[in-house]
Amino acid sequence: TILPAAPTRASAKPVKPKRVGAPEGADPGVVSWVASVAELTEPRDIVWCDGSQEELQRLIDIMLEAGTIVPVPKRPGSYLARSNPDDVARMEDRTFICADDAEDAGPTNNWRDPASMRQVLGGLFDGAMRGRTMYVIPFSMGPVGGPISKLGIEITDSPYVVASMHYMTRVGTAALEAMHGTRDWVPAVHSIGAPLADGQQDVPWPCNPTRYISHFPETREIWSFGSAYGGNALLAKKCFALRIASVQARDEGWLAEHMLLLRMKHDDGRQIHLAGAFPSACGKTNLAMLQPTIPGWTVETLGDDIVWMRPGPDGRLWAINPENGFFGVAPGTSEATNATAMAMMDHDTIFTNVAMTPDGDVWWEGMTKDVPEGLIDWQGRPYDPANGPAAHPNARFTVRAEQAPSIAPDWDAPEGVPLDAIIFGGRRPTQVPLVLQARDWEHGVYVGATVSSQQTAAAEGPVGEIRRDPFAMLPFCGYNMGDYFTHWIDMGHRLGRHAPKIFSVNWFRRDEDGGFLWPGFGENARVLEWIAGRVAGTAPGVDTAVGVLPAEGALNLDGLDIDEAVMDELFEIDPKAWLSELVDVEAFFGQFGRALPTGLVRQLNHVRWRLEHV
Ligand code: PEP
Ligand code: NA
Ligand code: MN
Repeated sequence: TILPAAPTRASAKPVKPKRVGAPEGADPGVVSWVASVAELTEPRDIVWCDGSQEELQRLIDIMLEAGTIVPVPKRPGSYLARSNPDDVARMEDRTFICADDAEDAGPTNNWRDPASMRQVLGGLFDGAMRGRTMYVIPFSMGPVGGPISKLGIEITDSPYVVASMHYMTRVGTAALEAMHGTRDWVPAVHSIGAPLADGQQDVPWPCNPTRYISHFPETREIWSFGSAYGGNALLAKKCFALRIASVQARDEGWLAEHMLLLRMKHDDGRQIHLAGAFPSACGKTNLAMLQPTIPGWTVETLGDDIVWMRPGPDGRLWAINPENGFFGVAPGTSEATNATAMAMMDHDTIFTNVAMTPDGDVWWEGMTKDVPEGLIDWQGRPYDPANGPAAHPNARFTVRAEQAPSIAPDWDAPEGVPLDAIIFGGRRPTQVPLVLQARDWEHGVYVGATVSSQQTAAAEGPVGEIRRDPFAMLPFCGYNMGDYFTHWIDMGHRLGRHAPKIFSVNWFRRDEDGGFLWPGFGENARVLEWIAGRVAGTAPGVDTAVGVLPAEGALNLDGLDIDEAVMDELFEIDPKAWLSELVDVEAFFGQFGRALPTGLVRQLNHVRWRLEHV
């Protein structure tokens, strides 16, 4: 068995819509593709999703019955899902880019030959949905029909995935209707890989230890097998909106990025739109929902994980958040770190792998200072610290964007917002200053390409190690990252004087005793204010070897109790440390061979020359 071919308009063999339960008027290409997937996977029945509240309620009832979720009585409309303990995070070593030519996947992706992968997956998907319902989920990323939006269909046999997609994307009939007469939609197939024999008892979180998260960039297909966890299974998110969309963006002249999106505005009328790339679990959600401590400023949230950007008719870069919800890391979220997120999840939230209190609320490490008595841990056992944390470190909340009190009133405007600034950040305990501005676009691309961060629990791998994560896209770029850097440099040429200004930030620098130097959270607004000033041309900066730092007194520290010595440490540039890191950067760049744009080599040489001559 091999996989059915990707849907094409020409080859669509006519299938009667009724045979697969398709709504009247569904596009024939869609119908025949769904039929071919059903023929392969042999589900018990097929449900076409309409995105309605009634449908969501049916899914919830099914999951309650199966034990996949339990109610969270303290939060109306909220549920807790406990996953299989072996299905808790994205699996980068099981994530594949199946381009015809290995060069097109590049050195940072796991490449597989598409033909042999189709054979492997064909075997796995054959009969994979037996005894289960196959859900067909038409969805739109971005408002249906918007100039930056894109369509897709996810087929899945997991009700948890369908319910999560309801929150995270725009599911339903409007999306399906928009697919009429076009092939510009992404086909994405997901199976938990746990067929049920007649009379076989199901488990609360069925999955399969064999896992493949496979992308076919040339045909824009996604096939994912074995896991029901977020990034592996909600295929609209990382698989489509980043990996496949990055390829579409390269071919069509736009950008699909792992970024938050916010507006910061002042009572006096000043405002900026800012997108920020940070590796997983570096606080993108917290920053997107920041409550400024400095008077006059407000932050409005537009998105917390993914941004699609396109040059508009006015020559500026226009940005949307293509998602419809937040799939955030719960541990560490509290009234102190993100009161907005706490308010947004007080109802209609799906929690995954958090702990539960005896009075029917959720709990996770960092939510409150004291650990409540009588906790049930994320695996459903009485909490015992000997078993590890009460909530899994990658425990998640899933909510609709509209539930965030800070959501921008126009957050789903189809045309998006014009972007003023782009920031890159990571967890860097030493060396990298609180903020710096790139000298120009090409230097900004260098800054993005050299992002690195201490690894966290969001993906499998050793926690704490510093890894290079260019543009925070290392796990998410669907093609050769050398070509991706080139695409970014080209975008700067196209945008010219309209290009957003580019910055690097680091909230995570530590002192000798390991304590954070910068208070972070709401105080980060001070850094954003300087960035707004740079965009407006009012805030002074000093050029250094590594970029432009705030001039003496340019960063607003009013009302902040922080030592001058600490501020000096936050901005200290140690040429030795930077020079030795350049060795690592050069080696990292080296792997891209001739795909590496000369612009990045020029920038690296420039920074090195400046560091050697301070
Ligand atoms: C995910 O795993 O689905 C996800 C959103 O990942 P991350 O938080 O690492 O970006
Ligand atoms: Na089959
Ligand atoms: Mn992310």
